Amino acid sequence: MSASASLYKRVQRVIPPMEWPVFAPDIDAILRLKRERNAVILAHNYMTPEIFHCVADIVGDSLALAREAQRVEADIIVMAGVHFMAETAKMLNPAKTVLIPNLEAGCSLAASITAADVRLLRQKYPGRPIVTYVNTSAEVKAESDICCTSGNARRVVESLGVPEVIMLPDQYLAANVARETGVKIISWAGSCEVHERFTPAEIRQLRAENPGVVVLAHPECPPEVVDEADFAGSTAAMADYVTEKQPGRVVLITECSMADNIAVLHPKVDFVRPCNLCPHMKRITLPGIRACLETLTHEVTIAPAIAQRACTAVERMLAI
Ligand code: 13P
Ligand code: SF4
Repeated sequence: MSASASLYKRVQRVIPPMEWPVFAPDIDAILRLKRERNAVILAHNYMTPEIFHCVADIVGDSLALAREAQRVEADIIVMAGVHFMAETAKMLNPAKTVLIPNLEAGCSLAASITAADVRLLRQKYPGRPIVTYVNTSAEVKAESDICCTSGNARRVVESLGVPEVIMLPDQYLAANVARETGVKIISWAGSCEVHERFTPAEIRQLRAENPGVVVLAHPECPPEVVDEADFAGSTAAMADYVTEKQPGRVVLITECSMADNIAVLHPKVDFVRPCNLCPHMKRITLPGIRACLETLTHEVTIAPAIAQRACTAVERMLAI
């Protein structure tokens, strides 16, 4: 029996039987290649279920992937996620070869700001610490004092103990954290193209159509959307909420694959599924991962001078 045959049981709730023969050959090849290459696959919560549940070794939110990347002992890390995640893995574990299956897997937040923008902000607002979301390039991280993710943004800002900080580049995460902490935040006009599209009216309609539904929202959503939710947190915090509270019916106001991946683990929870796709995350596919392991492309590297400074900002975050 092929390795993939036993894996189907795990994902049968979200992958129809007729689709499985398309995935199985790539899954078998990837499992073999991982052994041959001494590689591990780190996968973000937004990967599709055949990646998340069938070939990934480590899964999680941005924070968990950064922490786990540091501990990888295998020779090769394949990042099933977007480019900034691969860069973060590389700076935290520079001796490893870090590969990404598609170099175009970017992020609207990372694309919204450059290192020169950060230098100008530092000149304009001297003395304010610069907190940079991990959804940025290594060059931008290198100009920052400390990084944060959606899973620790509040703790990072509070740890600084100052009344005013600069927080880049997500205007909505910044607004949500400012409300939670009472710290004044100078923000940047970046936004996530997936989460900015949700609206309060959409949430109200979901509640009207699905009585009793519990609404979980990602903090990259605008504050007025978060106001309509029962809980806001990172993708890992949303997954933990479902695990702990086992709501009868739930809706995740975030990227589409998240609900599929958690639904596999919670057969008794009814998932209402409006969602927005992240085109960048969806550039990572099984054939892409297979090709990446076959050809050992695309390697992610960072100029040493940038890597060292960027890594300092990420390590300060991980130390909190
Ligand atoms: P988290 O998984 O850290 O919540 O981030 C969401 C996201 O949009 C990553 O691209
Ligand atoms: Fe970037 Fe949003 Fe896609 Fe995450 S979901 S990678 S923040 S565009």
